[in-house]
Amino acid sequence: LGQKLIHFDQVESTQEIGHQLASQGKPHGTVVIADAQGKGRGRMARNWHSPKGKGIWMSILLRPDLPPMRAPQLTLLAATVLAKMVREKTNLHPQIKWPNDLLIDHKKVSGILTEMQAEHDQIQYVVLGIGMNVNQQLNEIPQDIRHKASSLKIESGQEWDIQQTIQSILRLFENTYDSYVEQGFEQVKKEWEHFGYRIGEEVTISTMRREWQATLIGIEPDGALRARDKDGNEEKLYSAEIHWGE
Ligand code: BTN
Repeated sequence: LGQKLIHFDQVESTQEIGHQLASQGKPHGTVVIADAQGKGRGRMARNWHSPKGKGIWMSILLRPDLPPMRAPQLTLLAATVLAKMVREKTNLHPQIKWPNDLLIDHKKVSGILTEMQAEHDQIQYVVLGIGMNVNQQLNEIPQDIRHKASSLKIESGQEWDIQQTIQSILRLFENTYDSYVEQGFEQVKKEWEHFGYRIGEEVTISTMRREWQATLIGIEPDGALRARDKDGNEEKLYSAEIHWGE
């Protein structure tokens, strides 16, 4: 992974480049990194603030031999990799808000965007985007999200070496991915649940259709979120937003 690492000073979005490289037939493990993105994309059509040299803005091209329904597991895998990296390098307690927000001290430091192309019930490729706020100071976080977003520097009190951090992520990603391919999702699921945010606690869940209170139970073998509502009904969720404290 990252044997082929393509670096740009400035792009609109490393995701776009990832898709282009995929359609040119570039191999599994190709990595695109940019110092800055003009149009970084987040989940749910949000934008992702990607200022120059302040974070990790990268997309990894994967060509897993898997059916499309297993793609969400790759997102959870990536989130555990980021959590493991932070745990290895600091004495902070990273947590993962389902499905894939990396939080430190309740604030989002990193997000993952998984985009997939599939055909005949087989994944053609996945472009897995990782955005990680690394060296921003508080006043460099956009004001409207300052109450809920942070960076490694803000949380750890020290400046990070971005290149080294990328290498650590790629190394951990490769190990975790290889064991996932060989042994399946079970180990990743365990690790994810170790870092899982608000598991066992009551939260507000919202989907496009409704919003309700529920207790988070954990994740399913396929990566879905399991939650129990006030009446004791359990549900598997594939797409939802989780809130708390509102
Ligand atoms: C989210 O939490 O909403 C996901 C954010 C993903 C951002 C990364 S930055 C690198 C890659 N390129 C993009 O345009 N988005 C992802």
